[in-house]
Amino acid sequence: MSRHLLQIEGLHPPQIEAMLDLAESYVLLNRSGKTQRDLLRGRTLINLFFEDSTRTRTSFELAGKRLGADVINMSVASSSVNKGETLLDTAATLNAMMCDLLVIRHSQSGAPHLLSQKVDAAVINAGDGTHEHPTQALLDALTIRRRLGRLEGLTVAICGDILHSRVARSNIHLLTAMGSRVRVVGPPTLIPADCGRLGVEVFHDMAKGLADADVVMALRLQKERMGGEGNARPGGNPVPSAREYFRFYGLDFDKLASAKPGALVMHPGPMNRGVEIDSAVADDPVRSVIKEQVEMGVAVRMAVLDSLARMQRRNV
Ligand code: NCD
Repeated sequence: MSRHLLQIEGLHPPQIEAMLDLAESYVLLNRSGKTQRDLLRGRTLINLFFEDSTRTRTSFELAGKRLGADVINMSVASSSVNKGETLLDTAATLNAMMCDLLVIRHSQSGAPHLLSQKVDAAVINAGDGTHEHPTQALLDALTIRRRLGRLEGLTVAICGDILHSRVARSNIHLLTAMGSRVRVVGPPTLIPADCGRLGVEVFHDMAKGLADADVVMALRLQKERMGGEGNARPGGNPVPSAREYFRFYGLDFDKLASAKPGALVMHPGPMNRGVEIDSAVADDPVRSVIKEQVEMGVAVRMAVLDSLARMQRRNV
């Protein structure tokens, strides 16, 4: 494995499996209320977020602290960022501070990759533009594996705004690598034209796309990414109105009835209730595993920090 975690694409199933197994041990540790503060003692973790975040930033902070790292949160308002040059300047500054682990979220696809070439720290991608969000895919996989016992052979329907979703992209890479059958379901305007190349089946109708699915994942309409960064439809609105979108693509119990009776309902958050998911489904204590996804997020990030720090020790 590389000394960074920049993307899921290119990871091999045994590497994914090993990360999920390590994360599983952290689920048990977290539930026992214990910590392992000696593991990253003396290490510095910098959270560098150029975009908003609640779950991801907080869980990286918690993960670092539970493993004993010194954690620094740098929030950078995207409006004040002059991309290319500023990012490289920032990299030089962080390098001079000798940080060990650098977690970055940025609106530009490829920003973590660029940074990884300029700093000595291990770089972890916490979401870059529409490219990837690797720790989200790992936590989703852990949630599914714990609930359904496996990933292989499952049918997973990812619904909604696939085009702008780094979560969808990372999940597609991970789940197809692990032998799941992945479907993407959404309006033609929100499905990338080259989706078939990723080994998924494309559906524009929820009843058909959800038929016999084991897992149904709803995604937010990512308005902030629509029309930007070389995506389709610059300036155009790919959906008519939130109300109409909900009628056709909002995950409610009627549409969920097409999936398997025990199908899991997932959402990476933040949710737009009444747009891509109905509140009753999101809060259903049996079907929805949305809160569990958040719990798995901390364990997965502990596993990622742990394994990258181990690799650094070996390289010293
Ligand atoms: C996602 C993201 O930022 O890509 N959120 C998250 O990390 N849980 C999804 C989103 O923004 O809709």
